[in-house]
Amino acid sequence: MRRLLPTAPDVTDLTSLEGLAEAYAYPDSVAEGRPWLRANMVSSLDGAARLDGLSEGLSSEADKRIFGVLRALADVVLVGAQTVRAEGYRPARARAEFAAARAARGQAPAAAIAVVTGRLDLDLDAPLFTEPLVPTLVITSASAPADAVKAAGRVADVVVAGDERVDPAAMVAALAGHGWTRLLTEGGPRLLGQLTAAGVLDELCLSLAPLLASGDAPRISNGPAGQAERMELVSLLEEKGFLFARYARSVNPAD
Ligand SMILES: NC(=O)c1ccc[n+]([C@@H]2O[C@H](COP(=O)([O-])OP(=O)(O)OC[C@H]3O[C@@H](n4cnc5c(N)ncnc54)[C@H](OP(=O)(O)O)[C@@H]3O)[C@@H](O)[C@H]2O)c1
Repeated sequence: MRRLLPTAPDVTDLTSLEGLAEAYAYPDSVAEGRPWLRANMVSSLDGAARLDGLSEGLSSEADKRIFGVLRALADVVLVGAQTVRAEGYRPARARAEFAAARAARGQAPAAAIAVVTGRLDLDLDAPLFTEPLVPTLVITSASAPADAVKAAGRVADVVVAGDERVDPAAMVAALAGHGWTRLLTEGGPRLLGQLTAAGVLDELCLSLAPLLASGDAPRISNGPAGQAERMELVSLLEEKGFLFARYARSVNPAD
C-alpha cells in the first residue's frame, strides 16, 4: 500500500496494521466526549454500491484490511437493518493486534454492532444477538412495534432515538450520552443517505474499486435530499488499483 496524498514525508508504516490504525485515528476530541461519525463505504468506478446484491464483489484484500482497522478503532458500528439481513452480519471480533490499543483507550475488546431499524424484522437467534462479545444494540424509534421491541430487549440493548423514524442527530446524541464517541457506519446506502441528509456525518472513508459494474445498483448514499456538504480530502492511499480516500467535513466550506 502506498500513500498518494498528502505528499509530505510520513513516518507511518502503512504495511502494518498498527500503522494503518495510526493513519485512520479518530480526532482527539472524541476523548473529550465529542462524537465523530465516519462512514466506510466501497463503490465501483461507475458508482455502484453493490455487485450481485452484495458489497463483497467490490472489495479487495486491502479494502478488508482497512475495514478491519476502522472497526478496531470504533466504539460502535452503525448498520442499517437491510445490510444486516442481506449480508448476514455477525458480531465484531476481538483481535489480538488491536487489544492493547483498545484497552489503553478504555474501549471494550471489540466494537458493538448497532442495528438501525424501524420494523425490527431481525433474526434474534442469529450469532449477532446470541454470541456478541459486547451486547449488540438495536436502535429504533418510539413508534416501533412494542412486542418486537420487547423481544429485542431480551438479547440486545435497545436505544430509542426519534418518534416516527430513527432521528440521526438524536441517535448520535444518545450514543455519545452512553460514552460512545468513536462512531462508524458501514451503511448501507439508505442509512447513509439519511445520515448525510441530516448533516451528521463527519467523515467518509471511501474505497474506490477499479471496476465498471454497470447495472442499476444504488450509489453509496441513497435517501432524502439534504443540503449538499463540502468535504475535504484528508488522505489518499492506493493498493492494486484500489483507491482509499478519506474525506472530512470541510471546516471552511466557502473556500
Ligand atoms: N457499498 C457499500 O459500502 C455497502 C455497504 C453496506 C451495504 N451495502 C449493500 O447495500 C444493500 C443494503 O443497503 P440498503 O440501502 O438497501 O439498506 P440499509 O441502509 O442497510 O438498511 C435500510 C434499513 O435500515 C433501517 N433504517 C434506515 N434508516 C432508518 C430510520 N431513520 N429509522 C428506522 N429505520 C431505519 C430500516 O430497517 P427496517 O426495514 O428493519 O425498518 C431500513 O429498511 C445490500 O445489498 C448491501 O450489500 C453496500
